[in-house]
Amino acid sequence: MTTRTRILTGITTTGTPHLGNYAGAIRPAILASQDANADSFYFLADYHALIKCDDPQRIQRSRMEIAATWLAGGLDVNRVTFYRQSDIPEIPELTWLLTCVAAKGLLNRAHAYKASVDKNVEAGEDPDAGISMGLYSYPVLMAADILMFNAHKVPVGRDQIQHVEMARDIGQRFNHLFGNGKEFFTMPEALIEESVATLPGLDGRKMSKSYDNTIPLFTSAKDMKDAISRIVTDSRAPGEAKDPDTSHLFTLFQAFASKAQEQEFRAELLQGLGWGEAKNRLFQLLDSQLSEPRERYHQLMSRPSDMEDLLLIGAKKARAVAAPFLAELREAVGLRSFVNQAAAPVAAKKKAAKAARFVSFREDDGSFRFRLLSADGEQLLLSRNFADGKAAGAVTKQLQSGDALDVRTEAASFSVWLDGAAVADSAEFADETSRDAAIAALRVALTPIED
Ligand code: TRP
Repeated sequence: MTTRTRILTGITTTGTPHLGNYAGAIRPAILASQDANADSFYFLADYHALIKCDDPQRIQRSRMEIAATWLAGGLDVNRVTFYRQSDIPEIPELTWLLTCVAAKGLLNRAHAYKASVDKNVEAGEDPDAGISMGLYSYPVLMAADILMFNAHKVPVGRDQIQHVEMARDIGQRFNHLFGNGKEFFTMPEALIEESVATLPGLDGRKMSKSYDNTIPLFTSAKDMKDAISRIVTDSRAPGEAKDPDTSHLFTLFQAFASKAQEQEFRAELLQGLGWGEAKNRLFQLLDSQLSEPRERYHQLMSRPSDMEDLLLIGAKKARAVAAPFLAELREAVGLRSFVNQAAAPVAAKKKAAKAARFVSFREDDGSFRFRLLSADGEQLLLSRNFADGKAAGAVTKQLQSGDALDVRTEAASFSVWLDGAAVADSAEFADETSRDAAIAALRVALTPIED
């Protein structure tokens, strides 16, 4: 039997999707969900939206617009599990269980939180001014999203990689504390689609709401046309040859064109097609592909109860997975029924957590090194050479500080980095699976919370 890969991703519901979101995230996700081996879970991260937005109208509108965009874009709800995070009460419950094992120090290091603190400090404010517990705990909620469904792959933007890593850390910690040898949670991996180009916006910078350079997706043909007319081009007149490779108008065209259409457009630009006409071509191309989904989009938006039904079915599917799993997790942490206690695994005593240890030694050349040994004496890491014992000591101290580990893999081995330099290496493993298991074991060994 082949097991399908579970792919899970959430979309924060604070805005209206634009053409860049469509080409960069929505379209590839819908395509990926059509793979026979994919078991996709896509959801509206509306609890996350509350962290960033306190405007109820906007939250509600965005939830509807995003749901309609994905459905209009061709997402097949019979194939994927498509739901609203806030329809799954098991998510906040799991969030709490995870909150109780997540190291505060880990969350202190979240980029988004740190950026807010830095901004406050720069402005001479209290470091935590205006920072809610929601923002602070954002990665734990996200970890619950991911771990609840034992996702293997999590397609995200680069800014979210750290959050997926934190989900691994927290899940590992839970497995270690309560698993009794059983791995409750699958370790998720961030999936960064390198091949999906980020679309340029009207001014050539990355298309983004914060740059105010977006092309609207499904609002109307006219809106799209108006935006296209504002695409910045060089000042070459009609008849003068245009360079497709320096034109973001061409890049936009490329993202939607077949090879043949692309070649034709390229030739025309080289032959001096005017920019006005070029914009026309782009509009025609986009309109030919988007007018049908646009119509579906407006139909969906005008019949919200249909969408409500679809999403409730999705929630039911998701809860069919989440509810029994959460019951198991509650059992594991000791939230058990008072009756039939004998059946509960109370007797299964937790293995005494033994600590991993660092052993330092000196090489013949006088340099200092250390090994990190697991509780059972297996070598997890061998350090590089340090000039003095103090430097080696500082490194072991930092490794135990609970800072998110910078682990870099290379074939079937890995190394650990600090401040831009490799400080220690693993053994050579038989394959990547055993390598990843060793990385997981290393993370557990270095988790700072006391048992
Ligand atoms: N934080 C993600 C973002 O802003 C959205 C999100 C929430 C998410 N939960 C998730 C993405 C779980 C992947 C998996 O893009």
